[in-house]
Amino acid sequence: MQFRKLGNTGKELSAIGLGCMGMSFAYGPADEQESINTLHKALDLGVNFWDTADMYANGENEKLISKVLVPNRDKIFIATKFGFRFKDGKASHSGAPGTYFDGSPEWVRQAVDASLQRLKVDEIDLYYAHRIDPNIPVEETVGAMVELVKAGKVKYIGLSEASASSIRKANAVHPITALQSEYSLLTRDVENEILPVIRELGITLVPYSPLARGLFSNINDVQNFGAEDFRKSLPRYQDEYLENNRKLAQEINDFAASKGVKGTQLALAWVLNQGEDIIPIPGTKRIKYLEENIAATDLKLSGEDLITIDSILKKYPHVGERYSEGSMKLVNN
Ligand SMILES: NC(=O)c1ccc[n+]([C@@H]2O[C@H](COP(=O)([O-])OP(=O)(O)OC[C@H]3O[C@@H](n4cnc5c(N)ncnc54)[C@H](OP(=O)(O)O)[C@@H]3O)[C@@H](O)[C@H]2O)c1
Repeated sequence: MQFRKLGNTGKELSAIGLGCMGMSFAYGPADEQESINTLHKALDLGVNFWDTADMYANGENEKLISKVLVPNRDKIFIATKFGFRFKDGKASHSGAPGTYFDGSPEWVRQAVDASLQRLKVDEIDLYYAHRIDPNIPVEETVGAMVELVKAGKVKYIGLSEASASSIRKANAVHPITALQSEYSLLTRDVENEILPVIRELGITLVPYSPLARGLFSNINDVQNFGAEDFRKSLPRYQDEYLENNRKLAQEINDFAASKGVKGTQLALAWVLNQGEDIIPIPGTKRIKYLEENIAATDLKLSGEDLITIDSILKKYPHVGERYSEGSMKLVNN
């Protein structure tokens, strides 16, 4: 396993983490035993940076992970997130009616205790604000998170999908260790403004959905997604974008095959290639995919490869927004 430095912490984590969301939520049915086996395999193979959130299946994902986390506490760096709430208490996704975001200090204090209980640990290694609450100054949310650090409930503080200006304001209150934002071949929003700011401040980028939610491997399967599959709500799997993205995926997969790898591996290698200060967290519930993703950390892309990838992306620019309209309002605040 290769390792990369985490922000200004002096810690080194595996060059890819493990996104655990799909083990309980969002991407179709999951098998609990298969997920647990995948967590054990991640541990054996040195993937020591695991990612969850309190909202994934309304806390069930944190409970699932705790089964492997607790007996192996010193070997895993655990990250979780807070802020999404459900009006009727029923688990849902970020853009669903009845889901709202709460970055208030009162909620920060309640949410952390609930996560600690579900994870069955004394301290969370990295605690992210899942979004920036547009109705609350970011300094207030982060101020409440600093109290958690002082109380020994949280070691490091992170933000997710924050704007460059919020990152600066937050970092002035307390050093921010990581920014978790979507970053992949199809989502490059962070490149212009945000990446330069976090590099200046020594904050690690943790790209989520680095495989574009599996689009390279599942776009031809969209008709088989179940009713609850979150991807059904995403523009990228709908209307004219679906056709564009099918062709894009096909060409990326063909190019990957010419190099003897899978499109998902090429996509992950591209993200890893963007800088040593980037630690992506590809998500999977399967050992086979986990192993393939780890193998992608050894895949070197040449200047020529990057040019070919860029030319494919330019050929199919109508990829569609990454979220529905409602969810887009909660990013880059
Ligand atoms: N901060 C945020 O707002 C936010 C938002 C979304 C996600 N996240 C975090 O980021 C993590 C990763 O993102 P993500 O899960 O949304 O998307 P992703 O990593 O881009 O893609 C996950 C999808 O790709 C499939 N996959 C993974 N490896 C594969 C392989 N080698 N070959 C073929 N298919 C493969 C998975 O299938 P299987 O499910 O069948 O294994 C799953 O459907 C999540 O688990 C979550 O922890 C954070």
